[in-house]
Amino acid sequence: MRERLVVSVAGKGGVGKTTTSALLTRAVIEKTKRSLLVVDADPVMNLPRALGIEIPTSVGDIASRLRKSIDEGSLGGEVAKQDILEGEIYEALVEGEQFDFLAMGRTEGEGCYCYVNRLLTQIIDNLSKNYELTLLDMSAGLEHLSRRTNRNVDVLVIVLDPSRAAYEAALRIRDLAKEVHIDFKKIVVVGNRFLPEMEDDLQKKLEEENLPLFGMIPNDDELSKANYLGQPLTELNSDSPAVQAVEKIAEKLGLLSEAAMLKLLGKDT
Ligand SMILES: Nc1ncnc2c1ncn2[C@@H]1O[C@H](COP(=O)(O)OP(=O)(O)O)[C@@H](O)[C@H]1O
Ligand SMILES: [Mg+2]
Repeated sequence: MRERLVVSVAGKGGVGKTTTSALLTRAVIEKTKRSLLVVDADPVMNLPRALGIEIPTSVGDIASRLRKSIDEGSLGGEVAKQDILEGEIYEALVEGEQFDFLAMGRTEGEGCYCYVNRLLTQIIDNLSKNYELTLLDMSAGLEHLSRRTNRNVDVLVIVLDPSRAAYEAALRIRDLAKEVHIDFKKIVVVGNRFLPEMEDDLQKKLEEENLPLFGMIPNDDELSKANYLGQPLTELNSDSPAVQAVEKIAEKLGLLSEAAMLKLLGKDT
């Protein structure tokens, strides 16, 4: 059986998770023909714009509808709920030529809707089995990490910008990832917008924490401009520094080839 790689991008708010996710997506679709599911797991839902796509609805909206039906008592037993949610989730799946896309939206309900959330986890896990790669743009809140979408995750990418808060959040995310039952094969760090002269120091600090620094994304004026104009990052020039940096990171993460992926997972022997 072929390995399924699930990469989750996490980190404090504003550090560059969505930017990293969008540029990783870009690298995969430009360099490979691998089947890819991209999931925006952040309720803020910035990723569709960064990728230049429109979404019809979100998983959260569909789940809210289901909750309403449950409250109104217009649904049958457990099986019916699972079937309905599983069937309707496809309404939110955007099937593109180069990748498929799913926006989670807001999935938390009032009161105890644990079983709806549990159903969601199962459905997303099932869905990702249909793809060679799944890429998740996580929310800044850490709660997502302990639940739902990234249960069978292989790789966790923690994005950092040059701030103490981002660094502390990174360590918390690392600790949480260990506490909860997520079997990450690898947890790596990507530094975003650091000055080149800060790299050595960052590397040393992370080494003491046993966290490998997997790459650095430079501050990129072209990216800022695209962001200001609301242009998708998929349209950035391929020689833009951030695009180039993330391509390297994608290769190291095993996103661009089966061989690199097996190497990353330590299965290349
Ligand atoms: N390397 C970079 N160069 C220039 N602007 C960047 C860079 N990384 C992120 N940004 C900008 O910083 C803001 C926050 O980035 P974003 O990826 O949305 O963070 P997050 O998803 O972690 O909240 C965005 O406006 C984005 O365009
Ligand atoms: Mg974001």
